Amino acid sequence: MDTIRWSVDKNVDEIKGYPQIEKAADLLRNNEVVAIPTETVYGLGGNAKSDEAVKKIFQAKGRPSDNPLIIHIAEKEQLEEFVVEVPELAEKLMNQFWPGSLTIIFQQKEGILSTSATAGLSTVAVRMPDHPVALAVIKSSGLPIAAPSANRSGRPSPTTAQHVFEDLNGLIAGIVDGGSTGVGVESTVIDCTAAIPTILRPGGVTKEQIAKVIGDVRMDPALQNEKVKPKSPGMKYQHYAPDAPLFLVKGSKSFLQKLIDEKRQHGLRVGVLTTIEGESHVHADFVFTCGERKQLETVAVKLYEALRSFNTAGVDIIFSEMFPNEGVGDAIMNRLMKAAGHQIISEE
Ligand code: TXA
Ligand code: MG
Repeated sequence: MDTIRWSVDKNVDEIKGYPQIEKAADLLRNNEVVAIPTETVYGLGGNAKSDEAVKKIFQAKGRPSDNPLIIHIAEKEQLEEFVVEVPELAEKLMNQFWPGSLTIIFQQKEGILSTSATAGLSTVAVRMPDHPVALAVIKSSGLPIAAPSANRSGRPSPTTAQHVFEDLNGLIAGIVDGGSTGVGVESTVIDCTAAIPTILRPGGVTKEQIAKVIGDVRMDPALQNEKVKPKSPGMKYQHYAPDAPLFLVKGSKSFLQKLIDEKRQHGLRVGVLTTIEGESHVHADFVFTCGERKQLETVAVKLYEALRSFNTAGVDIIFSEMFPNEGVGDAIMNRLMKAAGHQIISEE
């Protein structure tokens, strides 16, 4: 299949019918799959009501069929069609964070969405992306749009159209290029059907921001303990892994340099993921500077590009700094731990 790729100005006015937007909406209405930019990462969109379209999403990604998709909407009214009810806490969260990087789990009405989109569950994950291009495409399609991150399963999520192209060229109908995404990590997934609202996946909206709006919120225990079964099916898979083994390093700068030197003495090409604060202390074969440590949002923006860059650089082993579990640091550490298969090297 030829994958068509075209650009859309990020500042598109979502109301007007731009031909570039209509082109994507037409493909979606014809049950084809199209990659679209969102504020978090690029999504691979398809008609959430069509088994045919959803099957194409799973096939292109090579995604396990028990991992449900997030349904994207452009207007709150779209929820009525496929959600049983909107609990009070969810309403509060929607008012505060939509459009934005928060995905909320609801009970779904039977028989509306493709059962493959929600992997046969009675619940459905929904979000309204905060990106004019995504909103315009969804609105003009008139459909709820199922959209996982637009990467091959297991690879880092795409933050540029080029990343999508590298993974999915020839496998999908189109790629709408709206430039780099803003947040850089995926949305936070929260379950409001639980007694205490529970974060199943940390993401762009932080636990602290959520607590300010609804009070008590907890993290799914599986996020802290890899032996506990996660409530979100997708969280059990290894993800984001670069080709070379990745180790997270807890300790001083000299400890990190010692690890690097040891590997280089054995003839290995060493890659390092660090920050502006750390870069001048690191001597390795390839160094990726991932934002500023004291501003974790800047690290999130570059994280997936960093993980992808190690493949291009052709290193044999990668060491990464660790980040504090606060704010968007929760999401950064969650992705890094997965990418590293939970391998940490500590100084003590
Ligand atoms: O920022 C994002 O959320 C991006 C953009 C494209 O919107 N999308 C994204 O989708 O990250 P995906 O498919 O890569 O991740 C969806 C996550 C998976 O961990 C999945 O298991 C979980 O959401 N999920 C979906 N439906 C669920 C449900 N009913 N209950 C629990 N978890 C669910
Ligand atoms: Mg994903």
